[in-house]
Amino acid sequence: MRSKVVTIDRHIIDQERAHPAASGRFSALLYDIALAAKIISREVNMAGLIDILGATGDTNVQGERVQKLDAFAHEVIVKAMDHAGHLCCMASEECDDIIPIPERFEIGNYVLLFDPLDGSSNINVNVSIGTIFSVHQRVSPRGTPGTLADCLQPGLRQVAAGYVIYGSSTMMVYTTGVEGGVHGFTLDPSLGEFLLSHPAIRIPDPPARVYSVNEAYYARWGRGEQRLVDRFRGVNGEDGGGYKSRYIGSMVSDVHRTLLQGGIFMYPRDTRAPAGKLRILYEAAPLALVCAAAGGRASDGSRDILDIVPEGLHDRTPLFLGSAELVNLAERYLRER
Ligand code: AHG
Ligand code: MN
Ligand code: MN
Repeated sequence: MRSKVVTIDRHIIDQERAHPAASGRFSALLYDIALAAKIISREVNMAGLIDILGATGDTNVQGERVQKLDAFAHEVIVKAMDHAGHLCCMASEECDDIIPIPERFEIGNYVLLFDPLDGSSNINVNVSIGTIFSVHQRVSPRGTPGTLADCLQPGLRQVAAGYVIYGSSTMMVYTTGVEGGVHGFTLDPSLGEFLLSHPAIRIPDPPARVYSVNEAYYARWGRGEQRLVDRFRGVNGEDGGGYKSRYIGSMVSDVHRTLLQGGIFMYPRDTRAPAGKLRILYEAAPLALVCAAAGGRASDGSRDILDIVPEGLHDRTPLFLGSAELVNLAERYLRER
């Protein structure tokens, strides 16, 4: 048995004590994200019952008709975060424009970017899904409404990032940057508390021989991507081999496994998605920071993901993320083409 039980709230407060200049706002912000995660988790766990409960005429807690789970998750996060005075604006994968803070609430100094429900095509088949979040400090003047410029910052400026995975357990994993490390908390549903279960996560070194990619798109990739995967498979004259393939199709789940076991997760560009599929602000950048803080790397094939300055809220990028050794290998293959 572990010698102490640490809740996520306690952990956030302890981490803040290590930074005496911190205002307390930042801790409160992370606490509110954890609260939103618990609400979404509860609803995700009920997902398979929606039809049954709907048939008996039941409605959800707010008395609203049951709606799509990703729209629900978006609403939960906005409502949990807009009124507490931490944020100057938000942006979500589910919304075209930035989300302002309503005038009646205090305006804060942070920006929250999020993918409310990642892997949503997996909901109906009871496979793990997640929520991804990214926090920046604002760049526009304090006390004024947040702007697009506050959202369009490179990933290396993130002050916190993380994800929640709704899997066989619900876990929240977050980092406050490379020096703060990456910490994982598992939700004890009977207590309603996230408890520290994975302190100071490091990607295993040497890495597990696991690659994770949607191989059905092989014919649409460039030569470099094809040769890289040939190498993992040990075919077409490439050495290597000895690799396993794992692909869930929920990025949060594939990245979570990559963090804990090592390996590489890839979503390359292809002829149907020439800029890649994954969004820089809501998916690639936050998970790149988590990965870097756990000793790994994330690249678009030639640049570090954390260096990319997005031009639009919904910009996409190719992504190669995981054990540094394998991400470096991917870059080498893509350079050679
Ligand atoms: P979302 O559900 O937020 O739209 O994201 C889905 C993403 C990501 O989770 C996953 O890695 C990828 O789409 C899967 O795409 P393919 O089905 O093309 O493999
Ligand atoms: Mn997503
Ligand atoms: Mn999504």
